[in-house]
Amino acid sequence: MPKVSIVVPTYNERDNVPVLAKRLDEALGRAGIDFELIIVDDDSPDGTAEVAKKLKLKHGKVKVFVRKGEKGLASAVLKGFELAEGKYLVVMDADLQHPPEVVPELVEKLEEGCDLVIASRYAHREGVRGWNPVRKIISRGATLLAKLLVPATKYTTDPMSGFFALKREVVENPKKPLNPLGYKILLEILAKGNFKKVCEVPYVFGKRLAGESKLGGRVMAEYLLHLLKLARETGELRRMITFAAIGATGIAVNEAALYAVYELLGAKGLGYAGLALAGLAGFEASVLYNFILHEMITFKDRRRGSPARRLAHYELGSALGAVVQIAVLLGLTSIGINYLIANLVGILLGLGIRYSYSATKAWPA
Ligand code: GDD
Ligand code: MN
Repeated sequence: MPKVSIVVPTYNERDNVPVLAKRLDEALGRAGIDFELIIVDDDSPDGTAEVAKKLKLKHGKVKVFVRKGEKGLASAVLKGFELAEGKYLVVMDADLQHPPEVVPELVEKLEEGCDLVIASRYAHREGVRGWNPVRKIISRGATLLAKLLVPATKYTTDPMSGFFALKREVVENPKKPLNPLGYKILLEILAKGNFKKVCEVPYVFGKRLAGESKLGGRVMAEYLLHLLKLARETGELRRMITFAAIGATGIAVNEAALYAVYELLGAKGLGYAGLALAGLAGFEASVLYNFILHEMITFKDRRRGSPARRLAHYELGSALGAVVQIAVLLGLTSIGINYLIANLVGILLGLGIRYSYSATKAWPA
């Protein structure tokens, strides 16, 4: 039985497969690693499978599996896992954008006790050098969204990587069945895999050797949908909805406290300042009430550290959310947008800020 199974999904990679196989053979041979190369080809019209079947390696063996009438990168990888006999599984592309010479490093990390090792384009800073501010904001936004929807992405700087290695237990007994959808099989594994320690190895994503990429422009939209789907499956979406629902019930607490301070405690007598005071009291009452419910329900599984620290973060996030909410209301109204719509946008943005703050600072995953 080989120690390492290298799973390579292919579609029209005829010219790349022999070079990949040769470089893998050399790199793993040099490192003394016993391996099998598993090519899962979706019946490529260019004859990739025929070329692959003729491959001869010095240090490892080759398995070629041809799927007919089925396509898709993630499902091909899962098929490869089924065929794999190794203790360790490696996933990589056929086009040499993933340097074969990095594979021994991934294996070494597994030997050192990591369960999942991700080859990352971003482990060193150069991946984002020279980006313009808009690109940076979009990238930051996408990363934050991933962090909120799939908290396990926090373990890596490159959750979309197609180059990684893992112990077979990680995918053999996942917490939830892996979904063979889309391109981002690593996201599935991060969200549902059975692992403790995740490690990273930096690498430089090279140029495609031959042929062309199969992943087109829809990738970003598909990525967002995939994140949402994972959030639903893992309960993170439910957490967000709970957060919003509790927030909504907080409105009643806010109103009641405002009324009590204004009417019953006599703040009314102070005029406008009294109203401001009562407004602040209402806000604070709802923040405290929400905090308690989030502690007991929304984030009950993430109560770590001191409650005072959590409350401080929650207060800060709520205050920031409120300021943004009002600023958006005033700002959008001033540029001619209907004030009810402006308010709605403000409320949603404020909610988003409170949730981000809560899920990353007060109760981080
Ligand atoms: N069997 C099979 N079926 N293989 C496929 C299919 C398919 O439907 N689509 C693509 N592949 C294979 C390709 O032949 C290649 O070996 C590998 O999957 C990656 O495809 P590329 O077309 O080269 O993808 P890319 O370079 O644009 O994207 C890669 O990098 C991304 C990071 O930017 C992939 O690794 C992505 O998963 C990764 O997110
Ligand atoms: Mn590629």
